[in-house]
Amino acid sequence: MSYNIAIDGPAGAGKSTIAKKIAKEKQFIYVDTGAMYRAMGLYFLRNGISAQDEPQINQKCGEADITISHVDGEQVVFLNGENVNGSIRTEEVGNMTSAISVYPQVRKKLVELQQRLAGNADVVMDGRDIGTCVLPDADVKIYLTASSSVRAKRRYEELAAKGEVCNLAQIEKDIIERDERDMNREISPLRQAEDAVLVDSSDMTIDEVVEKILSLCRTNS
Ligand code: DC
Repeated sequence: MSYNIAIDGPAGAGKSTIAKKIAKEKQFIYVDTGAMYRAMGLYFLRNGISAQDEPQINQKCGEADITISHVDGEQVVFLNGENVNGSIRTEEVGNMTSAISVYPQVRKKLVELQQRLAGNADVVMDGRDIGTCVLPDADVKIYLTASSSVRAKRRYEELAAKGEVCNLAQIEKDIIERDERDMNREISPLRQAEDAVLVDSSDMTIDEVVEKILSLCRTNS
């Protein structure tokens, strides 16, 4: 049986940074489910399909073949054979992705892929619905959050470091809007699973959060 750690939470809570460190420490595979949804969002953006056009999205999501592989511990996402890691981390793709991830066909396809990955290997998987829907029997479940202003500041610094021109107030507005949509959609909304441990990282360092989760793993092994 594989050992699964599920980390859910809103945008910018630090899920991927934390999950990567835990995966390295435990020699597990890190699965970034947001990147899979982003690859799907990128596909619709590139093809000029509106996020509001549900019939087109349901029809066309079958045409987007999304696969992942791991190179030196980094997840690489392929969209129809193309490595799209360098194209999916923009605010434009993030906002499109949040809008298209409400659709059942999109979710069904990606959840199946995620469950297959977790069945075949020990994983740390992060997303919005991992503890509630994708891996309801995960060994450790974390709901990682932080205040919207802290999250906006982190996202701003991440984008600025990559040389992207951005505006802090706009980022916070986008984050709040995205949380609203992710938490209030009909299918698999973002919420804390009943058996998940809440970790608020607003005033914690990355290492403190990692240590907290590793200690939960020790008690659940
Ligand atoms: O974690 P992220 O910012 O890369 O995710 C981008 C969007 O993808 C997020 O706004 C909602 C969607 N998503 C989802 O619906 N379910 C997941 N398990 C992961 C991401």
